Amino acid sequence: MRPIVCTGAMDAETLWLIDALENAEPVTLGCWKCVQGELDGYPVVIVRTNQGMANAAASTALAIERFAPCAVLNQGTSGGHAPDLHTGDIVIGAQVINMGAVRTPERARGAGMDPVCGEPLGLEIANTQPGDGEKKTVFAADADLVRAAAAVCWTESTVVQGTIGSGDVWNNELDRIAWLHENWGTMTEEMEAAASAQICAAYGVPFLTVRILSNTAVHGEPFDERTGEACQKFARAVMRNY
Ligand code: 5AD
Repeated sequence: MRPIVCTGAMDAETLWLIDALENAEPVTLGCWKCVQGELDGYPVVIVRTNQGMANAAASTALAIERFAPCAVLNQGTSGGHAPDLHTGDIVIGAQVINMGAVRTPERARGAGMDPVCGEPLGLEIANTQPGDGEKKTVFAADADLVRAAAAVCWTESTVVQGTIGSGDVWNNELDRIAWLHENWGTMTEEMEAAASAQICAAYGVPFLTVRILSNTAVHGEPFDERTGEACQKFARAVMRNY
C-alpha cells in the first residue's frame, strides 16, 4: 500500500498526528523530522517540513522519492485574508498560488514602485525531458482529496473551500491583504503549500493543503498556536475519508 504523506511545518502542526500513529517509527529524511506509522490501519508518514517554501519543496521531493506516496496532504496554521473568516476557521485549499511569483509592470527609472503585486508569474514544473517544463501560476488540488476534505463532519468552526496564498512572507498590511483577497482570491496565507504543490505537480502526486486560521490581521486576531492541533484533527479525518 502506498502511504499518505502528511506534512506540517512546526511541532505545533505535527506532534498530535505523530502521537496518533500506531507502530510509529522515526525515519531519516535528510534534515527533516519524519515518522512513519499507521492511522486506522493505513500507512501514513508525517513529515515536519520546517517553515518556508524551500524547506517545503525539498522535504516534499525527498518524501516522494523515499515513500512513493499515493497523496501528499499539507496542513497547518495560516493568516486570514477573507473578512468573513476568523481564528479557528478552516480553508480547504481548492487551489494554491505562490504570492512571491510576480511579474511587475514595466516602469522607467524614477517612475516609482507599486507597493502591491503585479501579475502572477508562471512557475516551471520540472521534468526529465529536454527543453522547458510546463508553467503554472495556480496549483489546483486533487479532486478526490478535496472531496474527502469536504466530507469531514466538523462542527467546531466554519469550513470553506478556496484559494490559499503561499510565500516566504508574513503580510500585515491590510491594504495588501485586501488586494490579494480581491485580485487573487486568497482566503488565507501561509508559507509552504504552493512550494509543495509545485513539486507534487512535477511528480504527478495528488496534493491538497488544508489550513486553519491561527491569526487574522483583518480582525486584529493574534497568532494562536493551539489551532495547530485542531487542524491536525481535521487532517486526520481527511485521510480517513480518502
Ligand atoms: N502569514 C504567513 N504564514 C503564517 N503561518 C501562520 N500564520 C501565518 C501568516 N499570517 C504559518 C506559516 C509558517 C508559520 C510561520 O506559520 O505556514 O509555517
